[in-house]
Amino acid sequence: MAKIISVVNQKGGVGKTTTTVNLAASLAGLGKRVLIIDFDPQGHSTEHLGVKAEKGKTALELLNKEGSLTSLLYPTYVSNLWILPTNLRLGQFNQNSPVGRQFALKEGIREEVKNRFDYVIIDCQPSLSLLTLNALVSCDKVLLPVQAEFLALDGLSQLIVTLKEIQTKLHPKLSVLGVLLTMYDKRNKLSFEVKEELQKNFREDIFDIVIPRNVKLAEAPSFGQSILDYAGNSSGAVAYRALAKEVIKKLN
Ligand SMILES: Nc1ncnc2c1ncn2[C@@H]1O[C@H](COP(=O)(O)OP(=O)(O)OP(=O)(O)O)[C@@H](O)[C@H]1O
Ligand SMILES: [Mg+2]
Repeated sequence: MAKIISVVNQKGGVGKTTTTVNLAASLAGLGKRVLIIDFDPQGHSTEHLGVKAEKGKTALELLNKEGSLTSLLYPTYVSNLWILPTNLRLGQFNQNSPVGRQFALKEGIREEVKNRFDYVIIDCQPSLSLLTLNALVSCDKVLLPVQAEFLALDGLSQLIVTLKEIQTKLHPKLSVLGVLLTMYDKRNKLSFEVKEELQKNFREDIFDIVIPRNVKLAEAPSFGQSILDYAGNSSGAVAYRALAKEVIKKLN
Protein backbone atom coordinates (compact mmCIF):
# COMPACT_ATOMS: atom_id res chain seq x y z
CA MET A 1 0.00 0.00 0.00
CA ALA A 2 1.50 3.32 -1.09
CA LYS A 3 2.58 5.76 1.60
CA ILE A 4 1.86 9.32 0.55
CA ILE A 5 4.12 12.10 1.88
CA SER A 6 3.63 15.85 1.35
CA VAL A 7 6.76 17.99 1.49
CA VAL A 8 5.43 21.25 2.87
CA ASN A 9 6.58 24.64 4.11
CA GLN A 10 4.92 27.88 3.06
CA LYS A 11 8.31 29.57 3.34
CA GLY A 12 10.09 29.67 -0.01
CA GLY A 13 13.51 28.23 -0.77
CA VAL A 14 13.85 25.96 2.26
CA GLY A 15 14.67 22.78 0.33
CA LYS A 16 11.27 21.26 -0.49
CA THR A 17 12.10 20.44 -4.10
CA THR A 18 15.67 19.36 -3.35
CA THR A 19 14.30 17.03 -0.70
CA THR A 20 11.47 15.71 -2.87
CA VAL A 21 13.72 14.81 -5.79
CA ASN A 22 16.68 13.43 -3.84
CA LEU A 23 14.63 11.53 -1.28
CA ALA A 24 12.55 10.04 -4.11
CA ALA A 25 15.66 9.06 -6.07
CA SER A 26 17.21 7.54 -2.94
CA LEU A 27 14.07 5.49 -2.22
CA ALA A 28 14.00 4.37 -5.86
CA GLY A 29 17.66 3.40 -5.54
CA LEU A 30 16.66 1.09 -2.69
CA GLY A 31 14.28 -0.69 -5.07
CA LYS A 32 11.10 1.11 -3.98
CA ARG A 33 8.56 2.18 -6.61
CA VAL A 34 8.24 5.93 -6.24
CA LEU A 35 6.01 8.62 -7.73
CA ILE A 36 6.71 12.35 -7.45
CA ILE A 37 3.72 14.64 -7.80
CA ASP A 38 4.99 18.07 -8.79
CA PHE A 39 2.37 20.25 -7.16
CA ASP A 40 4.14 23.60 -7.46
CA PRO A 41 3.33 25.64 -10.58
CA GLN A 42 7.02 26.61 -10.67
CA GLY A 43 7.57 23.02 -11.91
CA HIS A 44 10.98 22.71 -10.26
CA SER A 45 10.80 18.95 -9.56
CA THR A 46 9.82 18.38 -13.19
CA GLU A 47 12.80 20.46 -14.34
CA HIS A 48 15.19 18.94 -11.83
CA LEU A 49 14.59 15.52 -13.37
CA GLY A 50 14.82 16.86 -16.91
CA VAL A 51 11.25 15.86 -17.75
CA LYS A 52 9.48 17.74 -20.54
CA ALA A 53 5.74 17.68 -19.97
CA GLU A 54 3.62 17.53 -23.12
CA LYS A 55 0.88 20.07 -23.63
CA GLY A 56 -2.29 18.92 -21.87
CA LYS A 57 -0.54 16.13 -19.96
CA THR A 58 0.17 17.56 -16.50
CA ALA A 59 -1.12 17.60 -12.92
CA LEU A 60 -3.71 20.23 -13.91
CA GLU A 61 -5.43 17.77 -16.25
CA LEU A 62 -5.64 15.27 -13.39
CA LEU A 63 -7.31 17.86 -11.14
CA ASN A 64 -9.70 18.84 -13.93
CA LYS A 65 -10.55 15.18 -14.61
CA GLU A 66 -9.27 15.46 -18.16
CA GLY A 67 -7.01 12.45 -17.82
CA SER A 68 -6.37 9.51 -15.49
CA LEU A 69 -3.21 9.33 -13.42
CA THR A 70 -1.97 6.41 -15.54
CA SER A 71 -2.34 8.44 -18.72
CA LEU A 72 -0.48 11.41 -17.23
CA LEU A 73 2.55 9.72 -15.62
CA TYR A 74 6.02 10.09 -17.04
CA PRO A 75 8.95 7.78 -16.40
CA THR A 76 12.14 9.56 -15.32
CA TYR A 77 15.71 8.62 -16.21
CA VAL A 78 15.93 7.00 -12.72
CA SER A 79 14.57 3.47 -12.72
CA ASN A 80 11.58 2.93 -10.38
CA LEU A 81 10.89 6.69 -10.34
CA TRP A 82 7.92 8.29 -12.10
CA ILE A 83 6.59 11.84 -12.05
CA LEU A 84 3.29 13.60 -12.54
CA PRO A 85 4.79 16.77 -14.00
CA THR A 86 3.50 20.29 -13.92
CA ASN A 87 3.97 23.75 -15.39
CA LEU A 88 2.85 27.30 -14.67
CA ARG A 89 -0.72 26.57 -15.80
CA LEU A 90 -1.26 24.65 -12.55
CA GLY A 91 -1.59 28.06 -10.87
CA GLN A 92 -4.99 28.41 -12.60
CA PHE A 93 -6.34 25.83 -10.19
CA ASN A 94 -5.78 28.20 -7.24
CA GLN A 95 -7.42 31.07 -9.07
CA ASN A 96 -10.35 29.52 -10.91
CA SER A 97 -11.63 26.75 -8.68
CA PRO A 98 -15.10 26.88 -7.20
CA VAL A 99 -15.28 26.17 -3.45
CA GLY A 100 -15.11 22.56 -2.39
CA ARG A 101 -12.26 21.54 -4.67
CA GLN A 102 -9.96 20.48 -1.83
CA PHE A 103 -10.41 16.79 -2.68
CA ALA A 104 -9.60 16.97 -6.41
CA LEU A 105 -6.11 15.46 -6.01
CA LYS A 106 -7.28 12.77 -3.61
CA GLU A 107 -10.01 11.68 -6.01
CA GLY A 108 -7.53 11.68 -8.88
CA ILE A 109 -4.87 9.47 -7.27
CA ARG A 110 -6.63 7.40 -4.63
CA GLU A 111 -7.23 4.08 -6.33
CA GLU A 112 -4.45 4.25 -8.86
CA VAL A 113 -1.47 4.75 -6.54
CA LYS A 114 -2.45 2.18 -3.93
CA ASN A 115 -0.75 -0.89 -5.32
CA ARG A 116 1.32 0.62 -8.04
CA PHE A 117 3.77 2.56 -5.85
CA ASP A 118 5.47 2.16 -2.49
CA TYR A 119 5.92 5.91 -1.94
CA VAL A 120 4.26 8.98 -3.38
CA ILE A 121 6.01 12.28 -2.63
CA ILE A 122 4.20 15.56 -3.26
CA ASP A 123 6.34 18.67 -3.79
CA CYS A 124 4.19 21.58 -2.56
CA GLN A 125 4.34 25.24 -3.51
CA PRO A 126 5.52 27.85 -0.99
CA SER A 127 2.08 28.95 0.19
CA LEU A 128 -0.86 27.50 2.06
CA SER A 129 -2.96 27.58 -1.09
CA LEU A 130 -5.81 25.44 -2.38
CA LEU A 131 -3.18 23.27 -4.11
CA THR A 132 -1.34 22.74 -0.82
CA LEU A 133 -4.63 21.96 0.91
CA ASN A 134 -5.29 19.32 -1.78
CA ALA A 135 -1.89 17.79 -1.05
CA LEU A 136 -2.49 17.77 2.69
CA VAL A 137 -5.85 16.00 2.53
CA SER A 138 -4.42 13.43 0.10
CA CYS A 139 -1.38 12.35 2.12
CA ASP A 140 -0.71 10.16 5.14
CA LYS A 141 2.30 12.10 6.38
CA VAL A 142 3.89 15.53 6.21
CA LEU A 143 7.61 16.16 5.90
CA LEU A 144 8.59 19.69 6.91
CA PRO A 145 11.93 20.95 5.63
CA VAL A 146 13.29 23.82 7.70
CA GLN A 147 16.29 25.84 6.68
CA ALA A 148 18.91 26.27 9.37
CA GLU A 149 18.91 30.06 9.37
CA PHE A 150 17.61 33.14 11.17
CA LEU A 151 13.77 33.25 11.25
CA ALA A 152 13.61 29.60 10.22
CA LEU A 153 11.00 28.88 12.86
CA ASP A 154 8.98 31.90 11.86
CA GLY A 155 5.93 30.58 10.06
CA LEU A 156 6.44 27.05 11.31
CA SER A 157 4.01 27.57 14.18
CA GLN A 158 1.41 28.88 11.71
CA LEU A 159 1.97 25.79 9.61
CA ILE A 160 1.47 23.53 12.63
CA VAL A 161 -1.79 25.35 13.45
CA THR A 162 -2.95 24.82 9.85
CA LEU A 163 -2.08 21.12 10.05
CA LYS A 164 -4.05 20.78 13.32
CA GLU A 165 -7.03 22.49 11.69
CA ILE A 166 -6.93 20.10 8.75
CA GLN A 167 -6.67 17.17 11.16
CA THR A 168 -9.76 18.34 13.02
CA LYS A 169 -11.91 19.31 10.08
CA LEU A 170 -10.88 17.18 7.12
CA HIS A 171 -8.32 14.47 7.77
CA PRO A 172 -8.00 13.05 11.32
CA LYS A 173 -5.25 10.61 10.35
CA LEU A 174 -2.87 13.24 9.01
CA SER A 175 0.40 13.31 10.96
CA VAL A 176 3.90 14.70 10.85
CA LEU A 177 6.56 12.30 9.60
CA GLY A 178 9.29 14.69 10.66
CA VAL A 179 10.90 18.09 10.59
CA LEU A 180 14.02 18.03 8.43
CA LEU A 181 16.80 20.51 9.00
CA THR A 182 18.24 21.57 5.63
CA MET A 183 21.27 23.57 4.45
CA TYR A 184 22.95 22.89 7.79
CA ASP A 185 26.38 24.40 8.22
CA LYS A 186 28.19 23.01 11.22
CA ARG A 187 30.66 25.91 11.22
CA ASN A 188 27.79 28.33 11.68
CA LYS A 189 26.63 28.96 15.24
CA LEU A 190 23.18 29.91 13.98
CA SER A 191 22.66 26.47 12.42
CA PHE A 192 23.36 24.93 15.80
CA GLU A 193 20.95 27.30 17.54
CA VAL A 194 18.13 26.56 15.08
CA LYS A 195 18.69 22.84 15.68
CA GLU A 196 18.48 23.32 19.45
CA GLU A 197 15.36 25.45 19.11
CA LEU A 198 13.71 22.79 16.93
CA GLN A 199 14.61 20.06 19.39
CA LYS A 200 12.95 22.03 22.17
CA ASN A 201 9.78 22.46 20.15
CA PHE A 202 9.37 19.20 18.29
CA ARG A 203 11.35 16.47 20.06
CA GLU A 204 10.59 13.09 18.47
CA ASP A 205 9.33 14.61 15.25
CA ILE A 206 12.78 15.78 14.12
CA PHE A 207 14.73 13.58 11.75
CA ASP A 208 18.07 12.38 13.17
CA ILE A 209 19.68 13.13 9.84
CA VAL A 210 20.32 16.76 8.94
CA ILE A 211 20.97 17.84 5.36
CA PRO A 212 24.25 19.75 5.10
CA ARG A 213 24.74 22.81 2.95
CA ASN A 214 26.42 21.30 -0.11
CA VAL A 215 26.93 23.17 -3.37
CA LYS A 216 26.55 19.91 -5.35
CA LEU A 217 22.89 19.83 -4.30
CA ALA A 218 22.41 23.26 -5.86
CA GLU A 219 24.25 22.29 -9.05
CA ALA A 220 22.49 18.98 -9.73
CA PRO A 221 19.18 20.45 -11.07
CA SER A 222 20.86 22.22 -13.98
CA PHE A 223 22.19 18.83 -15.11
CA GLY A 224 18.73 17.26 -14.86
CA GLN A 225 20.05 14.74 -12.36
CA SER A 226 19.49 13.72 -8.78
CA ILE A 227 22.41 14.18 -6.40
CA LEU A 228 23.02 10.41 -6.47
CA ASP A 229 23.98 10.56 -10.15
CA TYR A 230 25.45 14.05 -10.22
CA ALA A 231 27.78 13.62 -7.23
CA GLY A 232 27.17 10.25 -5.61
CA ASN A 233 29.90 10.63 -2.99
CA SER A 234 29.07 14.20 -1.96
CA SER A 235 27.89 15.00 1.57
CA GLY A 236 24.46 15.82 0.09
CA ALA A 237 24.15 12.40 -1.52
CA VAL A 238 25.23 10.63 1.66
CA ALA A 239 22.65 12.61 3.66
CA TYR A 240 19.71 11.97 1.31
CA ARG A 241 20.51 8.24 1.16
CA ALA A 242 20.48 8.19 4.95
CA LEU A 243 17.22 10.16 4.98
CA ALA A 244 15.59 7.53 2.74
CA LYS A 245 16.56 4.81 5.23
CA GLU A 246 15.23 6.86 8.12
CA VAL A 247 11.94 7.47 6.29
CA ILE A 248 11.51 3.76 5.62
CA LYS A 249 12.25 2.97 9.26
CA LYS A 250 9.83 5.61 10.56
CA LEU A 251 7.04 4.32 8.33
CA ASN A 252 7.46 0.66 9.25
N1 LIG B 1 21.41 21.42 1.25
C1 LIG B 1 21.59 22.35 0.33
N2 LIG B 1 22.81 22.88 0.10
C2 LIG B 1 22.99 23.85 -0.83
N3 LIG B 1 22.02 24.35 -1.59
C3 LIG B 1 20.77 23.87 -1.42
C4 LIG B 1 20.49 22.84 -0.46
N4 LIG B 1 19.17 22.56 -0.51
C5 LIG B 1 18.65 23.37 -1.45
N5 LIG B 1 19.59 24.15 -1.99
C6 LIG B 1 19.40 25.20 -3.02
O1 LIG B 1 18.62 26.22 -2.42
C7 LIG B 1 17.62 26.71 -3.33
C8 LIG B 1 16.23 26.45 -2.75
O2 LIG B 1 16.03 25.03 -2.64
P1 LIG B 1 14.68 24.35 -3.14
O3 LIG B 1 14.35 24.79 -4.51
O4 LIG B 1 14.82 22.90 -2.90
O5 LIG B 1 13.68 25.00 -2.11
P2 LIG B 1 12.09 25.00 -2.18
O6 LIG B 1 11.62 25.02 -0.76
O7 LIG B 1 11.60 23.92 -3.05
O8 LIG B 1 11.82 26.41 -2.88
P3 LIG B 1 10.37 26.95 -3.35
O9 LIG B 1 9.71 27.38 -2.09
O10 LIG B 1 10.69 28.07 -4.30
O11 LIG B 1 9.68 25.82 -4.03
C9 LIG B 1 17.88 25.98 -4.63
O12 LIG B 1 18.71 26.76 -5.44
C10 LIG B 1 18.59 24.71 -4.20
O13 LIG B 1 19.42 24.19 -5.22
MG1 LIG C 1 10.27 24.02 -4.70
